[in-house]
Amino acid sequence: MWTSDDLESLVKRDLSDYRLIVVSNRQPYVFNIDQYGNLHSEMPPGGLTAAIDPLMRASGGAWIAQSSSAADREVMDPRGRIPVPYESPAYTMRLLNISEYENRGYYSGFANEGLWPLCHIAHTEPIFDSEHYDCYQTVNRRFADLVLDEIDDDPAIVLIQDYHLALLPRYIREANQDAVIGQFWHIPWPNPDIFRICPWQDDILDGMLANDLLGFHIPSYCRNFLDCVDTYLDAQVHPDRGRVDYGDETTLVRSIPISIDFDSIDAEARTPEVEAEMLRLSRQLGLNRGRILGLGIDRQDYIKGIPHRLRAVERLLEQWPEYHGRLVFLQVGAPSRTDIDAFRQHNIDIENTVNRINERFGREDWQPILHWPTTLPSPTFSALRRLADFCVVSSLHDGMNLVAKEYVASRVDEDGVLILSEFAGAAHELADSLIVNPYATKQFADAIHQALNMDVAERRRRMRKMRDIVRENNIYKWAGSIMQPLMKASASDHSRLVSTA
Ligand code: F6P
Repeated sequence: MWTSDDLESLVKRDLSDYRLIVVSNRQPYVFNIDQYGNLHSEMPPGGLTAAIDPLMRASGGAWIAQSSSAADREVMDPRGRIPVPYESPAYTMRLLNISEYENRGYYSGFANEGLWPLCHIAHTEPIFDSEHYDCYQTVNRRFADLVLDEIDDDPAIVLIQDYHLALLPRYIREANQDAVIGQFWHIPWPNPDIFRICPWQDDILDGMLANDLLGFHIPSYCRNFLDCVDTYLDAQVHPDRGRVDYGDETTLVRSIPISIDFDSIDAEARTPEVEAEMLRLSRQLGLNRGRILGLGIDRQDYIKGIPHRLRAVERLLEQWPEYHGRLVFLQVGAPSRTDIDAFRQHNIDIENTVNRINERFGREDWQPILHWPTTLPSPTFSALRRLADFCVVSSLHDGMNLVAKEYVASRVDEDGVLILSEFAGAAHELADSLIVNPYATKQFADAIHQALNMDVAERRRRMRKMRDIVRENNIYKWAGSIMQPLMKASASDHSRLVSTA
């Protein structure tokens, strides 16, 4: 099993004189100033920073991201550089300041109103606006300028994260032929018929083919990407070898499923703090009085299928009145990207659905749906995952979905049932969940009923198998699987990855 130490040793051994540059839209350390004027730095929740931070500490490289707060300006030098972690610096975070106008076009516009619905195929019409695309190009160029400045003609490996930066590999490559460039695409990739909706389809593909290595979560996203290249560009595609030859460039396309830090989530779930939270929540939610808990944890996003799961709970209550007064379904998670109309409208839809179901079935002493549209401290999330009789992940489409893996890692008692959408990347690995089609409300309700009536031996058998899978395929394995081919390429005489294809 991979550990953070293994990852550090790998990088120390194989990076040699290459400089490691990571680029993402979000920064790995966030600064804020409290009411007394004291500066605090924290790592945002989520697996990405947890995985890449050990790589960065071992390499002493640079992580380039967009600046997100005024507090950043208190600590950065004139070139936007901040040594991190703040208390014991080991590498450089370099921040790009972009204007509100640029961010509206680059992040909210092209990335999240255009590429996000396009890649997720969740029946929200993508908006492709040329002013947004201009901003996307400008900001990708500005990221490239910082990368090139950091590389300064030294040998370098550049590891780019996600759909905000599809053009960045090309912009780097135009100025630097020698850098080894890899990119991980954290969301699904659509088939050619869907992808052709994007008016700048060729630019996007051309940008991404400047990568030496391109990672997606599961094989079908790789296949869709290769089909798009085959359909729209003049390139040689080798699907059996996961390789594209494009002019004199070669890109390897690999499925590398992202994961979580299983051990730290497992360890947190066993702490006295979490046990105390479990007692408190158990009283608050009536679980100590025999109530059953169903749980959904998501950013409020239309791809997550939140109304769909609420309708399945409604159907369950219609069909099996024995759950009245007994079942509580808790939906928790903060609103997100609220400057975008489709996201705001979705928040209203969720609220209306919750109210409708509670008005229909609720009683003075019981509401079937609890909706907490907020984020919670990590031990509270951990306690909820431990308490939930079942956890629902009903994405209409999702690159991976780490909530599913977090639920499994938290179940140190090997109990609980995961109900998982067939359209989440995680369904590929977590076949011992109850797999549902979130659009098929009746079957979805049946699956919840099945979860609630599954005998304990069967629940344990399934959970144990899923825990073994997630423990083995953890976030450190993901990061190692990306770094190994990149470092191999940097060590070879051959131009980049060709020798390893
Ligand atoms: O799933 C893609 C992703 O970019 C994740 O990496 C991230 O956690 C999530 O979307 C939220 O994104 P944002 O940065 O827009 O809040």
